[in-house]
Amino acid sequence: MSHIKVVNIFSKELIGHEVEVKGWVRTRRGNKYVQFVALNDGSTIKNIQIVFDMEKFTDDDLRLVTTGAAIRVVGTLVESMGKGQTVEVQAAELEIYGTADDTYPMQKKGHTLEFLREKAHLRPRTNTFGAVLRIRSALAFAIHRFFNERGFFYLHTPLITASDCEGAGAMFQVTTLDLENLPRNEEGKVDYTQDFFGKMTALTVSGQLEGELGATALGAIYTFGPTFRAERSNTPRHLAEFWMIEPEVAFNTIAENMDLAEEFIKYCIVHALEHCADDIAFLNDHFDNELIERLKFVVDNDFVRLPYTEGVKILEASGKKFEFPVYWGADLQSEHERYLVEEHFRRPVILTDYPKEIKAFYMKMNDDGKTVRAMDVLFPKIGEIIGGSEREENYDKLLARIEELHIPMKDMWWYLDTRRFGTVPHSGFGLGFERLVLFVTGMTNIRDVIPFPRTPNNAEF
Ligand code: 4AD
Ligand code: MG
Repeated sequence: MSHIKVVNIFSKELIGHEVEVKGWVRTRRGNKYVQFVALNDGSTIKNIQIVFDMEKFTDDDLRLVTTGAAIRVVGTLVESMGKGQTVEVQAAELEIYGTADDTYPMQKKGHTLEFLREKAHLRPRTNTFGAVLRIRSALAFAIHRFFNERGFFYLHTPLITASDCEGAGAMFQVTTLDLENLPRNEEGKVDYTQDFFGKMTALTVSGQLEGELGATALGAIYTFGPTFRAERSNTPRHLAEFWMIEPEVAFNTIAENMDLAEEFIKYCIVHALEHCADDIAFLNDHFDNELIERLKFVVDNDFVRLPYTEGVKILEASGKKFEFPVYWGADLQSEHERYLVEEHFRRPVILTDYPKEIKAFYMKMNDDGKTVRAMDVLFPKIGEIIGGSEREENYDKLLARIEELHIPMKDMWWYLDTRRFGTVPHSGFGLGFERLVLFVTGMTNIRDVIPFPRTPNNAEF
């Protein structure tokens, strides 16, 4: 007999059969005649109830079966008389793998999320984080499935790079130089020719530039990997290490890029609703009563598509007092984005054609010379969930922009080559994976949707 996962045990066919289950004790209660253990093995939010007939077991047998202990039980699966479960296991055999004494931090229910963040090594054993992590895993699978079904190739772009894609200068430097004793050149500057790669390198902020190389060869690619930003943004929506999905498609216009983004996000949400119903229901009941409704609403409704200039007009006319002023040219803050989405349109909005000054160098210039073919997808509760654009495919225009922004040319020669040899219109975007997980789980802090968050002053675990 091989052990059965709890997720597979709630089946009528197994009733009357012998089963073996393994997991961690959530609770034990009972009296001198019978003891009940709620066992969870992480495969589902549901516990399996184990019933110990105290004529067959002694108090001493069960003494170490306490909250947090890991056990194995062999017994008969029977229909349950009690409330709250359909089946239970009548225990015949018990083995204790590992005990947990009363210093085990996940004892009680109802710990705050802040407390659990400090115990991130054990919080996956709670209902909440079990649910979040299973949903996160399902969403990652859905992402691969979506692109695979559409003939996209999964391209692995480097994590260590010498170029700053977003031009924001928020990169984590990678070096093997001895920081206590830095080599200097004649000008007194650090001599990076002696560093590991012979030049200054950093962790990537985006795989896009290499993604464009892939798209202009394979047609349609996506990346899905970790991304690093050394921004000192201590907000509920920023991580220093997050995962990003970046599709890039040759011949796609900005309109097709928007279609892809909308279809993609809806597909992921539908997948989660179908495959994570128990976990989403749990989060809906315990954290956010409108979660399921909101997810279905997003799936069932078209996203609004609106130029930035129109968005700013709406914000200006709103009469609303924002913390940050809004005017044409301003980089929109989360409060502005959420006003448009939650109060004005009451649905997701794709904002397009932003002023070139607030967007990255690679975006295609519009004929007005002032705006670029950018698109940000704005979501309720989240704000920006996707950022993307059509790319500037014209060599001269791209070069002019690079020079205007003083981006070091020597770092960009290979990128410019795509515009010298068989250049094509192409578009892509980046979805912040944790922002998607935030939306689907209804959690409100991004630190609670990644197993081990990396934020300023925090790299524990
Ligand atoms: O808007 P961003 O900076 O766009 C890019 O990096 C482009 N190269 C994408 C592309 O066109 N291929 O980032 C894309 C998304 C954002 O919309 C947001 O969801 C997420 O990445 N993101 C973050 N998520 C968590 N923590 C952070 N610090 C994030 N910064 C961006
Ligand atoms: Mg952005």
